[in-house]
Formats: sequence, structure tokens, C-alpha cells
Amino acid sequence: MFGINLQDSFLIKWFSNRVYSFSNFGFAKISPSIENKKAFFEKLSFKKRKDLLIKDKKDAGALKVKKEILKKNYQIYTDLLLKYDYIKIAEELIGEKVYPYIVMHLINDKKTKELIWHRDQYFHGKNFIGPKFKLYKLAIYLQNTNKNNGATGFIPKLISPRIRNRYLDTIFAYLSSFLSIHPRLSIGEAVIFSGKVMHHRPKQKNNKYREAIIFSCTNNPNNLPNLKDDKNEFLNVFLRSKKNSESNNK
Ligand SMILES: [Fe+2]
Repeated sequence: MFGINLQDSFLIKWFSNRVYSFSNFGFAKISPSIENKKAFFEKLSFKKRKDLLIKDKKDAGALKVKKEILKKNYQIYTDLLLKYDYIKIAEELIGEKVYPYIVMHLINDKKTKELIWHRDQYFHGKNFIGPKFKLYKLAIYLQNTNKNNGATGFIPKLISPRIRNRYLDTIFAYLSSFLSIHPRLSIGEAVIFSGKVMHHRPKQKNNKYREAIIFSCTNNPNNLPNLKDDKNEFLNVFLRSKKNSESNNK
């Protein structure tokens, strides 16, 4: 009996202390403090505005907010990131600066398929595939999210050797996927993960549609010289707001 109790307490402790260190896991959870979360995220939600969504077949059939609508909301997304410290917390977790440059707002429904195990950046033989600079994804979840409604799953960096063949790498991911972690996220929580970490989006199993806002980020705006000159690019909307908020805080 004693043994079982000991084991229970160890397991409970382990499950309740699930803080994923970015350096070992390749991902980490961001828990900002936001008041009246439910009402706040309902305002941002497109769940009741399906006419503004478009199905993306390349992304396993996820429903995405149309580009022109997305652009109108750039300031709202920027304020969300800065005002509620998502960026600040992300920078503390990963130990370097975080600059978002692309935003995607998407909903999974029952028809959305699994997005298979993959890395956003990897070697295939001698070729490096994906962006040639530091890439992070920051995903904010608009409802409580777990494995049953499409929480992104990860195979921790420590136990996921990067095989330089994309096919073998994917096969190995499926073989080791029993060790994967699907963080449980409450409304408004986020994850930040490296472009190099193995991840997937499971198929939705219940009716609680998963809605998320996902930002592609890098560690230096100079990594993106092509975006520099267009003041309407998301990166530049973000940089202006960041500058304003810093000068207001002085
Ligand atoms: Fe991905």
C-alpha cells in the first residue's frame, strides 16, 4: 500500500507541475493574466462568423480567417500580444527576442483532418527545408483545449533525434508518438515552440471546435528584409506598436 501511495503522490506531483522547459522540450506554455477571459476571447472569435472563413486544403482542411479580414485586425492582434505580455513571457522562456511576422487565425471543426507529424524546419539530406532563420510559432488558444479538440502535440526535443531524411524522420515520429505531449491549455493560454521541434495537430474528436491564433516569429526583424518596406506588413504594425508602448512606459 505504501508503495502505491508513494507512486501516486509522485505521479500527481509530476502531472500538476507540468512546466515544460523550452530548452529541453522545444516548447513551453505561456499563461498570461487576463480578466474576464471568456468575454474577452468571445469578441475575438470567428466561431459565429463562418462566412469570413475559408477552408485551407493544404492545412488538412482547417478553416482560416480570410486574408482581407485578417489584415483589418492586425492592430488587434498586435495589442493582444503586447498588452497581455505574451511576447514578454515568450522572450523570458526562450531567452531571446521574439518578433511576430505572420499571423494566422484558424478553426478546426469535425471535418478538419489530422495535420501529420512534422517539423517546420529540417534537413533532408544536405538541404535545409523551411525558413533559413530562427523560427518560432506562438499559438494562442481561444477556448480550453486538449488532445480531444486539437491541441498541438509535441515529441519533446530531448527524445526526438533529428533524422536527416524527412520520410524516416516522420516514421520515427509515429513510432515514438506514444511519448508525445499534448499540453492542456485553458482559454487564453498559449504555447511557443521551435520550428525544429516535431509536432502535429490531432483530429478533433468532440464538438468543441478548436480556434487558435498562430504567429510565426523570429528573433530579429533583420531576418526579414523583404518585409521591411511595406508599412502594412504585420511585422511593421507590430514594430510600431512595440515602439509606442516602450516610449509610453518611459
Ligand atoms: Fe507546423
